[in-house]
Amino acid sequence: MEHQVTIEGGEAFSVAANEDTLLRGALRAGVGFPHECSVGGCGACRFELVSGTMETLWLEAPGLAERDRRRGKRLACQSRPTSNCTIRVRCADSYRPIVDPNRWSAVLLNRRALTPDMSEFTLHVPDAAQFRPGQYALLYPPMAQGARAYSMSNLSNGDGLWQFIIRRVPGGASSNALFDIRVGERITLDGPYGHAFLRDENERDIICIAGGSGFAPMLSVARGALAQPGSRRVSFFYGARTQADLGASAELDEIAHERLDTTIVLSTPQVSSPWRGATGFVHEEVERAIARPLNRYEFYFAGPAPMVDAIQTLLMQKHQVPFAQVHFDRFL
Ligand SMILES: Cc1cc2nc3c(=O)[nH]c(=O)nc-3n(C[C@H](O)[C@H](O)[C@H](O)COP(=O)(O)OP(=O)(O)OC[C@H]3O[C@@H](n4cnc5c(N)ncnc54)[C@H](O)[C@@H]3O)c2cc1C
Ligand code: FES
Repeated sequence: MEHQVTIEGGEAFSVAANEDTLLRGALRAGVGFPHECSVGGCGACRFELVSGTMETLWLEAPGLAERDRRRGKRLACQSRPTSNCTIRVRCADSYRPIVDPNRWSAVLLNRRALTPDMSEFTLHVPDAAQFRPGQYALLYPPMAQGARAYSMSNLSNGDGLWQFIIRRVPGGASSNALFDIRVGERITLDGPYGHAFLRDENERDIICIAGGSGFAPMLSVARGALAQPGSRRVSFFYGARTQADLGASAELDEIAHERLDTTIVLSTPQVSSPWRGATGFVHEEVERAIARPLNRYEFYFAGPAPMVDAIQTLLMQKHQVPFAQVHFDRFL
C-alpha cells in the first residue's frame, strides 16, 4: 500500500506505507527534497504538513529546534505518511539524487580491524553497487532504533560490494550493534545518499580532509579521483588522535599514486612512541601546508561537526572559497 504526497504548487510522489520515510520516498521518486544527514540531526529536511496525517519516528530529533516544533515544522527523514498528504517545502534540483537510491537485505561478507576502534565492513547485495565516491548509505542494525548513515570507502562495482569504515562509539547503539553482527548475517542497506560526492566536471586539484571515521568517504573520493585519467592532484589530510589510529592511514599506502600526497595530523600524540609528523588540528595544518590561493582547489571533507565547522569557516569566510567548490558531510 502507498500514500500519495503532493508538494504545494509542485510535484507529487508516492511513499510506501509502513516502510518509507517521507524523505526516502521523495528521493526514490527523484524529487529534489532538501536534505543532508538523513538521520534527524541537521534540520535540512524541514517541511510543513498542510493536510493529511504523518507519524513522527523520532520525537526528540535534534534537527528540529523547539521554535520549529511550535511553528508546526517536521523533519522529512523522521516522518512517515499515514494517509494521502499535501506538504509545503521548497525543493531544488541540486537535491535530486545523482544515483537512484534503493534498499537491499545485504550480507556481511567480512569485517577487518584497521585500528582498535575502527573496522572495514564489506557488505554484499545481489545487484551492482552503484554510488558516487563520497556518498553514504543508511544501515539498519538489528536492535538499534532507526537508521544510521555510513559513508562508502570503496568505488562503484559490478560485484555488489559496499565497503564502510566504521568507528565503534563508546555506548553508541548502532555502531556497537554493527560490531556484534556476525559474518554471514544480514542487515538492511539503503542508499546511496548525499551530495558531497566527487565532481568530475572540472580539472581543479583536490584537497581531501578527513577527521576520524570521516576517513571512509575521503578514501573513496581519493580513489575515484585517482582512477580518472588526467593530471588532477589529490592532497589528503587525515586528522587522527594518537599513533593508535594510524592503522587506518595504512589504507592510503594501498592507493599510493604519483598524483597523491598524504599528511597525517595527530591531535594528541602519545609521548611513549615517536611521532615526527604534524600535530594539532587538521584544518590548521591544511592552511599551513597548501599553496595559495585556496580558491584554486576543490575541497572535500568529512568528520565530526566541530572539525567540519572549523574548515567551513576557514575556507568560506577567511579564504573566500566559492561554496560550489566545497563539499562536506558532518558526522552527526
Ligand atoms: C552523512 C553521515 C555519514 C557518516 N559516515 C560515517 C562513517 O563512514 N563511519 C562512521 O563510523 N560513522 C559515520 N557517521 C556517524 C554514524 O552515522 C553514527 O552517528 C555513529 O556510528 C554513532 O552512532 P551510534 O548509534 O553508535 O551512537 P549513538 O550515540 O547511539 O547515536 C548517534 C546518533 O544517532 C542518531 N540517533 C539516535 N537515536 C536515534 C533514533 N531513535 N532514530 C534515528 N537516529 C537516532 C543521533 O543523530 C545520534 O547523535 C556518519 C554520519 C553522517 C550523518
Ligand atoms: S536530513 Fe533530516 S535532519 Fe538531516
